[in-house]
Amino acid sequence: MFKLERIIQIIFFLMWNLCYVTASFSDFINLLKIVDAEQEMLIDEIRIDCVQSISKPGVYTFKSDPRLPFSKCDITLEVPDETIAYVRPSERTCETTSSTNISNMCDRPMQEEQLYSGHHHFLFDASESVTIHVQITPIFRLGCAEWAKNVYSLSGHTIILENNLGSKYCMVQMPASLEITWINYETTNRKKPCCPDVFVASTDFAENPVGYSDSFNACEMRANQETYITRCEMTYIYFRQSAKHDKLIFRIKPRHKKHIDECIPVPEELEPSNFTCIKKPKPARNRSKLTFL
Ligand SMILES: *[C@@H]1O[C@H](CO)[C@@H](O)[C@H](O)[C@H]1NC(C)=O
Ligand SMILES: *[C@@H]1O[C@H](CO)[C@@H](O)[C@H](O)[C@H]1NC(C)=O
Ligand SMILES: *[C@@H]1O[C@H](CO)[C@@H](O)[C@H](O)[C@H]1NC(C)=O
Repeated sequence: MFKLERIIQIIFFLMWNLCYVTASFSDFINLLKIVDAEQEMLIDEIRIDCVQSISKPGVYTFKSDPRLPFSKCDITLEVPDETIAYVRPSERTCETTSSTNISNMCDRPMQEEQLYSGHHHFLFDASESVTIHVQITPIFRLGCAEWAKNVYSLSGHTIILENNLGSKYCMVQMPASLEITWINYETTNRKKPCCPDVFVASTDFAENPVGYSDSFNACEMRANQETYITRCEMTYIYFRQSAKHDKLIFRIKPRHKKHIDECIPVPEELEPSNFTCIKKPKPARNRSKLTFL
């Protein structure tokens, strides 16, 4: 890890001398350091007991103990206000578990569950070994027409875009060259029959569109958790046909700046895909797990 950092620094100084360095490139190097530091912090495995509360990020391991009088272990995750936690059982835990709480997470896309603030219980048998990775991310809130310029303030966060204006195309501007993961969509609106959709535009500095994504159906985001990669100098996210106060929840990761090279506006006229109405599923009653936001 040190060697890599040294090499990056040497490249950085060489480019600096050649006057090639841009603010975004130095941002990118600093970001790499932050990511490394975060990963190092997560390396320590923390041993936990059969009944325990967790309120900090980390890797938590329970070693099976058939002598324990309890058949059920109960790990409580306390997620602080204004944060969202991501819980991922280890590969081995997913292969061996027979507990519903754990295997439900293993069945999710990316074997990961998102949990909003509050107390969450994970029940499992004391004869199982369980390792879970817990990541806790602050929430970064955005409204329509805002510009989130700083990749630092977005990376490692969960972003909630709220259609605060009730606009048909609620749009936000984001930094260049991102990997976006759609997490969820929330609504309390009962009148709109259609699911909103989301599409992403990549543009050059002059705001000429260089590409549009496909349309992502907001109602299927939680089930699919798809990702989309943007390129070029600017990224615009459109939350289309959503109701006032609808929320779009997603995360971003910065990508390497070399992808900016592919930024050539296409001569023929580019258009985003047209909106098609996909009917909202009937809200499942008495099963609301994700309600508070
Ligand atoms: C674990 O299962 C119990 C019931 O079996 C449920 O009430 C609880 O919400 C589940 N925990 C999580 C985090 O899904
Ligand atoms: C969208 O619809 C308009 C007219 O309704 C049509 O002219 C246009 O070609 C459509 N665009 C796409 C990308 O399908
Ligand atoms: C759903 O919950 C309500 C009360 O919150 C209850 O009256 C109703 O019977 C429940 N329906 C089902 C199908 O469990």
